Amino acid sequence: MLYRTSDRQLILSKYLHNGKLGQRLPQYVSNRLTKGGVQLIWKRHRMPIVETTNLCKSFAGYKAIDGVSLAVETGTIHAIIGPNGAGKTTFFNLLSGFETPTSGTVRFDGREITGLAPHAVAQLGMVRSFQINSIFTHLTVLDNVKVSLEAKTDLPSRFWLPGRATRVLDARARELLADVGLDRERDLLAAQLSYGRKRALELAISLGQNPKVLLLDEPTAGMGTEDVGRIAQLIARVKADRTIVLVEHNLSVVADLSDRITVLQRGRVLVEGTYAEVRADQRVIDAYLGGGAGVHA
Ligand SMILES: Nc1ncnc2c1ncn2[C@@H]1O[C@H](COP(=O)(O)OP(=O)(O)O)[C@@H](O)[C@H]1O
Ligand SMILES: [Mg+2]
Repeated sequence: MLYRTSDRQLILSKYLHNGKLGQRLPQYVSNRLTKGGVQLIWKRHRMPIVETTNLCKSFAGYKAIDGVSLAVETGTIHAIIGPNGAGKTTFFNLLSGFETPTSGTVRFDGREITGLAPHAVAQLGMVRSFQINSIFTHLTVLDNVKVSLEAKTDLPSRFWLPGRATRVLDARARELLADVGLDRERDLLAAQLSYGRKRALELAISLGQNPKVLLLDEPTAGMGTEDVGRIAQLIARVKADRTIVLVEHNLSVVADLSDRITVLQRGRVLVEGTYAEVRADQRVIDAYLGGGAGVHA
């Protein structure tokens, strides 16, 4: 027997229901699965969808990312935390094609994508949540999401034509806005939204691309408690059929959401593990408390 029954239940629960580890399937369900089936599921679940090997990025000789090898497993929420200046945003830029690595490789979904342009990476299915300045502030909230959907559909640019042509996208855009709690603001100009609401719009725009991997760089930064809760819930919900890499400042959000956590420090991986493992690690405690930097994503 390769796995104990309890392991099997955990694996299947996670794979089939995307549940948190710890939720178990009824034993009669897991008992029905053969050893081979479990192995297959385990293998598929464990396959990294994003993988970097010895990734480096220097800015004028300064090593912002210094030999990072990291694997993000399919279907997980993988958090990246670390003090300010640790290289988290640079790492995201390297994954999403906004920066080209000095050396090392990036693989996504079974192929090497090192050096691909951002739009090519996005088209393959890895999308970075765009910064606020990429929101079209002069368009309505609804139209911002429709533009994103339009870009994804590869249709001729019908968006700018009035009437029926864009109505198809309407329903989906409204759905996405409802998901992020912006349904009542949909006819406002994006410029009129508060900071927190702009982040929610940014998330709806990113989800409009229906990415396999969503890269979220501090999605709750600058938000009030209510918005933080809403975004955290949303991230948990959209996890269902995708993988999320999350740079997050708010450690309770990290604790709630993350399957795995990588701590970066000065461009290197300091520690990787579950939240409990990372939190208890003396090197992490030293890096945060010893460095006087406070605990930051
Ligand atoms: N385009 C750039 N040019 C020069 N230095 C940069 C650039 N981008 C980032 N850096 C430097 O790289 C380091 C890591 O930055 P960053 O990735 O933004 O860290 P984090 O997101 O963890 O706070 C910082 O010292 C920052 O000043
Ligand atoms: Mg950053």
